Amino acid sequence: MKSLYDTIAVEGKQLMKDFRLGDTITKVLKGVSLQVMKGEFVSIMGPSGSGKSTLLYILGGLDAPTGGFVYLNGTDISHFSDEKMSRIRRQKIGFVFQFYNLIPNLNVEENIMLPLLLDGKRMRD
Ligand SMILES: Nc1ncnc2c1ncn2[C@@H]1O[C@H](COP(=O)(O)OP(=O)(O)OP(=O)(O)O)[C@@H](O)[C@H]1O
Ligand SMILES: [Mg+2]
Repeated sequence: MKSLYDTIAVEGKQLMKDFRLGDTITKVLKGVSLQVMKGEFVSIMGPSGSGKSTLLYILGGLDAPTGGFVYLNGTDISHFSDEKMSRIRRQKIGFVFQFYNLIPNLNVEENIMLPLLLDGKRMRD
């Protein structure tokens, strides 16, 4: 029988994110829970400063939550080490950033191949 996690691509559970600047703590995510199913297309909408990018960075493994959990294919990645997170991002997650963040002295093909090369794949593959 198929388990629940065969169909959920990414899940956030009770996600919290606080930013501390000196004595000031900004509570940005206050218990956000969501499930994104495999093949689903989801938009996150909200006013500027409401925490959309913060949520995406956490769901995409670019930042860690202050509280709560992120499940990627059923695995909790919210407390992975930097090294493990780098591998997950390289192998499992694709980002298109607002300002692209491409490497200017590489061409399009080389930019696309970079994560594969870092992962030990050969150019020809
Ligand atoms: N690294 C940080 N340090 C301190 N505060 C931060 C940091 N990143 C985000 N914030 C604060 O968290 C809040 C949410 O920011 P975030 O960038 O997630 O909003 P957003 O919904 O993506 O906004 P926009 O629509 O402008 O892209 C803002 O108040 C922002 O100032
Ligand atoms: Mg944003």
